[in-house]
Amino acid sequence: MKLERLGNLRRFVNRLFGSVRLSRRLLSCAVLLGIVGLTGCRLDMQIEPKYRGYEASNFFRDGHSEQQPVPGTVARGELRTDTLMYAGLLDGKEANVFPFPITKKDLERGQQRFDIYCTPCHDFTGSGHGMVVQRGFPAPPSYYEKKLMDAPVGHFFRVMTYGYGTMYSYADRLSTKDRWCIAAYIRALQMTHQPNMNNVPPQEQKILEASGQ
Ligand code: HEC
Repeated sequence: MKLERLGNLRRFVNRLFGSVRLSRRLLSCAVLLGIVGLTGCRLDMQIEPKYRGYEASNFFRDGHSEQQPVPGTVARGELRTDTLMYAGLLDGKEANVFPFPITKKDLERGQQRFDIYCTPCHDFTGSGHGMVVQRGFPAPPSYYEKKLMDAPVGHFFRVMTYGYGTMYSYADRLSTKDRWCIAAYIRALQMTHQPNMNNVPPQEQKILEASGQ
């Protein structure tokens, strides 16, 4: 029974290859052409004329293959003509307004970023006794000094953006929007040292008045 089946299989295979015998040569030609074609492609990509990083060049006068962009070139989406937003200036002076309305969410974001980036030196209250200062770094001024209480919000934005004295810039770690959120949060911190009924929402005012405080 089993032998019979094997015989059948052999006959089947013979028939199959018998029928394709003629086209076999054609098939091998096609495969060969395909291989040659593919290697051709790869070779082209391998030896195409190109510069590798920092390679010297005889083409440019300065001998570098990598060229600087033309002075004044602005990358797409990087045009920063809004001096309030990007430099914290209004009519050439430090602005005392925000470039966008500050929401509760922005304040919370400001607090979170402040806690991460500023507290090591300025501490959580902004009095300037952070852990790094306790370990010997020059102490920053307290945010509650008169000069900083009176400073416009643009000043805080600019200190973060450009650095100030021994304090380095945070522009590469905090986005423009985050720097404004932190400026708003610092202002909110300062308000806690200058309680003013006018800053309390009307409903809360009523509660405070009723409690006689
Ligand atoms: C590594 C410590 C350190 C960190 C972190 C730090 N600061 Fe300062 N900051 C200082 C020091 C020191 C000064 C005082 C600089 C001086 O007067 O030379 C200062 C000054 C300031 C001032 C006052 C500038 C003025 O007009 O006198 C502000 C505002 C300020 N920092 C905001 C921030 C904010 C916001 C952050 C977080 C994004 C931050 N700093 C993070 C060390 C730090």
